[in-house]
Amino acid sequence: MSKTATLEIEGKKYEFPISVGTENEMSIDISKLRDLSGAITMDQGYKNTGACKSEITFLDGEEGILHYRGYSIEELAAKGNFLEVSYLLIFGELPTASQLQSFETDIRKYTLVNEEMKNIIDGFPKTAHPMGVLASLTSALTAFNPKAVDPNNKEELYTAVCKTMGKFLVIATWTYRKTMGYPLNYYDNTLGYVENFMNLMFKLPTEPYKANPVITQALDKLFILHADHEQNCSTSTVRMVGSSHAGLFASISAGVSALWGPLHGGANQAVLEMLEEINANGGDAAKYMDKAKDKNDPFRLMGFGHRVYKNFDPRAKIIKVAADEVLGTLGVNDPILDIAKKLEALALSDEYFVSRKLYPNVDFYSGIIYRALGIPTDMFTVMFAIGRLPGWIAQWKEMRENKEPIGRPRQIYTGSPLRSFVEVDKR
Ligand code: CMC
Repeated sequence: MSKTATLEIEGKKYEFPISVGTENEMSIDISKLRDLSGAITMDQGYKNTGACKSEITFLDGEEGILHYRGYSIEELAAKGNFLEVSYLLIFGELPTASQLQSFETDIRKYTLVNEEMKNIIDGFPKTAHPMGVLASLTSALTAFNPKAVDPNNKEELYTAVCKTMGKFLVIATWTYRKTMGYPLNYYDNTLGYVENFMNLMFKLPTEPYKANPVITQALDKLFILHADHEQNCSTSTVRMVGSSHAGLFASISAGVSALWGPLHGGANQAVLEMLEEINANGGDAAKYMDKAKDKNDPFRLMGFGHRVYKNFDPRAKIIKVAADEVLGTLGVNDPILDIAKKLEALALSDEYFVSRKLYPNVDFYSGIIYRALGIPTDMFTVMFAIGRLPGWIAQWKEMRENKEPIGRPRQIYTGSPLRSFVEVDKR
């Protein structure tokens, strides 16, 4: 028997269907609420609002569980590689060996970025933050690829996916080359995707370059861990912008802007800056814990807390282990790793953090690895964006294939009631 929920408003009862997801998550479908009763629901920050049904990612914040298309993040991070996980997210199944090879080859076909894009980069000051430049360049790609993708045309959609995966990686690294004043590199079709990232970032025309496999493997894992996270701020933005039938590049550009904020992807840069500051001020982690708890102090412990996880972020657990491994293998002895561990231990036994269920999130340890791998701090959020790209694509594709309606929330107006215009000389 199908389940329903009953809502009583001013003595009148209304029934709404309940739908249940694969993992028994429950939702009350209130889409007819306003038509029936004149009322809407209010849920600032969408803490209780489901915006779509999705087959891509399952997340249980209470238990600290994350699955992509039914596979646990732990297994994917241990056994998968970034391109096969991207394929899984976007197309729904793990690729066969030949599908994976074709995917990689097809991405390579689109890794050349129009040379005129360089004129756009030239317009930015060297001091511009890479995320701002990346959002602009992603948006600019629409100018060079003006034809909107038909989501119902499988071939066209596949080409758009490959184009986005290829070109985004290149322009993401160009944002860094610009800040350094280095010549912009091209993708090397004889190398793998993540190896290419390192080449694009660090290869200089004056000397040979070979990426360290320890570094490329660590980055591959980090990209997998960031690849999707269901309806977070940037992904909801991508779906929302795409719901107006704006193109894939335009929607992803909006996602990049949403990701940049320090409460979202920008937290990885903020964490590292915070740890550096603690280190520079004598390493007193307890003092910063007190600041984070002081309601009169705007300081927050960056890399702690999550809208959905009220338990350990499973990605943070994997990254913490990886941070130890990578720093050990590379022989890096970084005092800020010790400060991070000290902060974590203090927070996990502190009443303020325990009662609010604030645990380390994905951004807490990722910056420490990026730093050990030689990635500049300003590029941390760009790294997140590269990892999140397949998730954004998958969610945009699903939204268009499901023919979801344009996103358009309601509001309750709390401004002035109707009043008469007063001419300027009489105000
Ligand atoms: N440090 C100190 N107090 C915190 C923190 C923190 N990092 N996070 C939450 N709180 C407190 C907050 O002050 C509030 O206390 P009270 O109930 O006394 O008013 C309570 O915990 C609940 O916080 P909230 O802001 O209502 O929770 P939210 O779900 O709206 O926000 C969050 C989630 C991630 C924005 C927040 O925890 C935060 O600002 N964390 C630091 C930034 C960060 O690490 N962001 C990365 C998130 S994970 C990756 C991603 O999504 O990109």
